Amino acid sequence: MEFVELGSSGLRASVAGLGCGGSSRLGLGQGRSMEDAAGIVRAAFERGVNFLDTAMAYGTEPAIALAGLPRADILISTKSQIFIDGRLIGPDELLANLDASLARLGTDHVDIFHLHAVRPEHYGHALMLRETLERARRSGRIRHIGITETGPRDPEHLTLARATLDPAWSVVMVAHHMLNQNSRGTVFPQTLENRIGTLVMFAVRAIFSRPERLGEALAELARAGLIDSADPAQLDFLMEEGGASSLMDAAYRYARHTPGADVVLFGTGNVAHLDDNIRSICAPPLAERAVRRLEERYGHLVGVGLDLPDHLKTKRG
Ligand SMILES: NC(=O)c1ccc[n+]([C@@H]2O[C@H](COP(=O)([O-])OP(=O)(O)OC[C@H]3O[C@@H](n4cnc5c(N)ncnc54)[C@H](OP(=O)(O)O)[C@@H]3O)[C@@H](O)[C@H]2O)c1
Repeated sequence: MEFVELGSSGLRASVAGLGCGGSSRLGLGQGRSMEDAAGIVRAAFERGVNFLDTAMAYGTEPAIALAGLPRADILISTKSQIFIDGRLIGPDELLANLDASLARLGTDHVDIFHLHAVRPEHYGHALMLRETLERARRSGRIRHIGITETGPRDPEHLTLARATLDPAWSVVMVAHHMLNQNSRGTVFPQTLENRIGTLVMFAVRAIFSRPERLGEALAELARAGLIDSADPAQLDFLMEEGGASSLMDAAYRYARHTPGADVVLFGTGNVAHLDDNIRSICAPPLAERAVRRLEERYGHLVGVGLDLPDHLKTKRG
């Protein structure tokens, strides 16, 4: 496993980070038990993963507690939304959410506490709440404060375009993948300049893990005249000249080696997938020619494949 420094935080994180949300939620999304989910956390740790990303909203915090890993050897990142049931929450509710997360995680501190999926119109409120989190940081319950964007509702990264100018956010989480690369223009140059750590989400999601979803996305882009063809074979060059063993392998390697990307989060409830994903994230970059081709062909696309996780799609329509 390779490790990276997350910006100027001093945190040393594995480049492959276990994402405990998404459609899988460590397998809970497919009906598996909390003990099974804890088994995925343990399996990741045994393979060198020290970075665990969860959230109040995922329901997977107890799996981290149940995994029983040595606290000093893992980095726990969790989150609270700030817009819940159609209203913005206040400082007291945020602190109550933090304390409830600590209780579910069975720990007295988290390494990163993020404001979760902050919409651009709520960024001012997030800044107000950050003051509250600063106090929690001074009390030792939080080591670093982070912010995550909402891929589906903020495809232009408007929240992070502002947040990454402000190093008081130690870490940010950004939606970035082979057909959705616009964070290269705004987010990553600013995180590098301001020494803010980055966590990449959506590296694969459904678009590269479910062939029918890729087919739909390409057909939509071709209909809109944004790409020349709807044929999924247009991505075969990633295997033929890029050196990837599969589209998923290409997707994780592309995300991992984008300049400015620190930790690539991968979500799974399946140990065989976990092995494949760690192997891909730790593999060398794709051939330079293939990366250039990806960026020339698809660099103009915005908001592709940023689907809500399955359980929220049915809830919100
Ligand atoms: N706004 C936010 O803060 C936010 C939003 C989205 C995500 N996140 C974070 O980012 C993490 C990563 O996002 P993500 O969950 O969408 O992860 P992802 O790694 O982009 O995609 C995971 C999906 O691909 C499947 N998959 C994974 N490895 C596979 C393999 N080797 N072969 C075939 N299918 C595979 C998984 O199903 P299986 O279970 O079958 O493997 C799952 O459905 C989340 O877990 C969460 O921690 C945060």
